[in-house]
Amino acid sequence: MKLYHSPASPYARKVRVIAQECGIALDLVPTDPRGDAAYGKINPLQRIPALVLDDGEVLFDSPVIAEYLDATDHPGPKLFPASGPARFRALKLQAMADGILDAAVPRRQESLRPAALQSEAQLGLYKRSMSQTLDALEAMADKLEGVNIGTIAVACAVGYLDFRFPDDAWRHGRPKLAAWFETFAKRPSLAATAPTA
Ligand code: BEZ
Repeated sequence: MKLYHSPASPYARKVRVIAQECGIALDLVPTDPRGDAAYGKINPLQRIPALVLDDGEVLFDSPVIAEYLDATDHPGPKLFPASGPARFRALKLQAMADGILDAAVPRRQESLRPAALQSEAQLGLYKRSMSQTLDALEAMADKLEGVNIGTIAVACAVGYLDFRFPDDAWRHGRPKLAAWFETFAKRPSLAATAPTA
């Protein structure tokens, strides 16, 4: 299977961590969707990641790819709890983590525009969304248990903040989340997929 990705993308990182934890080998294709119009033939949304299956079917976006990989007959542990409260807790954590990124990524793009064109109001909204969700994660840090789609997604999200927003100092005032990440980030799958520019 071929994964179109970027080494900086936290969404693609989540998929790569899932693949490593499951023991699934992926053929990685580095892609800059903004500079590659032909990529639209693979993913019409012009976003990464996209996974091309052996029969040519293309899957996107990251929650769909993650669930597909986990549903295959792989040698690792299952990362999507099958049912009940554990499943919805994990899916909620993934939604919170991806939501942080859905604010962080456009915030970074906005901050790279010429200062005169930047919207302070929009930047403030992105920041508030990120900060409130990090606070909510701190308040439910006891739910960050085990290795599953939720905890992996949260680790990739806060890892992206270390990469692109070090000045945010997200650990400040969030000691439980910080302590959890300190340990979780040592997993080989996380260490092997640390973001690079
Ligand atoms: C980044 O460079 O920060 C980035 C790249 C791809 C997807 C998301 C973020």
